[in-house]
Amino acid sequence: MREFDEKSITAAVIGRLSQCDDPRFKRIMTALITHLHDFVRDVKLTESEWLTAIEFITDVGQTCTNKRQECILLSDTLGVSVLVITLNHPADEGSVESTVLGPFYWEDAPDLPRGSNLAEGVTGEPTFYSGRVLSVDGRPLENALLDIWSGDGEGNYDMQILGETGMKARGRIRTDAEGRYWFRSIRPTFYPVPTDGPVGGMLRKMGRHPYRPGHIHMIVSAPGHLTVTTHLFVAGSQYLDSDAVFGMKESLVAQFDRHPPGVDPSGERMETPFYMVNYDFRLRPAGAASATSVGT
Ligand code: BEZ
Ligand code: FE
Repeated sequence: MREFDEKSITAAVIGRLSQCDDPRFKRIMTALITHLHDFVRDVKLTESEWLTAIEFITDVGQTCTNKRQECILLSDTLGVSVLVITLNHPADEGSVESTVLGPFYWEDAPDLPRGSNLAEGVTGEPTFYSGRVLSVDGRPLENALLDIWSGDGEGNYDMQILGETGMKARGRIRTDAEGRYWFRSIRPTFYPVPTDGPVGGMLRKMGRHPYRPGHIHMIVSAPGHLTVTTHLFVAGSQYLDSDAVFGMKESLVAQFDRHPPGVDPSGERMETPFYMVNYDFRLRPAGAASATSVGT
């Protein structure tokens, strides 16, 4: 057949995959074409709407630089990132849940001794973080690594602050023989995802706010165990119920307890009220089969 109508076009496009010798790619493209065509038919997309979509996608691509990833932000705000993460990293056997990496990760943060203040010179309410890294069977994991980053107490990441060239509120801390970690930083607050690009325009058009609830990021890894990219969310923070990137998970909400000025558990004198938070991260052994397998 050389000519196609609004229904037969779909099978015709899929048929052109007959020589594709990568079964997984063939499956993905077949499903993509099917859903895309169904979507166009479903909403009866007009030519001007289609053109608007093309311009939007072009704008998203052109907004990307080596410091800004608008494509990931689009995926995040449409819930695709967290969907992919949740499918691929099920929190089996009580292991800590994963959530979005976000655009503000910076490799090679400094290795700091336990108890260090990651947020030296950063505005925000001082907070003492502690807990353990354990295997899912409860065995403490020595020398586990927490690669930690957050914004300041006003929600600004170092990368976003004009003229700021160095790392701030970042560091890598390792656990002791009993799997324990502790460090100091600030209590994170809610903040907006970048809204000055096309994704910001999309959020406004959708009638959505751009805020994420207060959280601190970490990538937790240990020898012989699966690495987890996660957050700790501040219990009671605004926007826990409506995270702009859908990354909030109840199991990651931690209590930040307020203490009057005094000496914190690392022996540091706090002249202002400070917070304490305690959270244990459980990791699955590498190679462990997942109870929830992702279909191929
Ligand atoms: C973040 O938490 O840093 C973040 C995640 C997704 C989009 C924007 C920011
Ligand atoms: Fe963040």
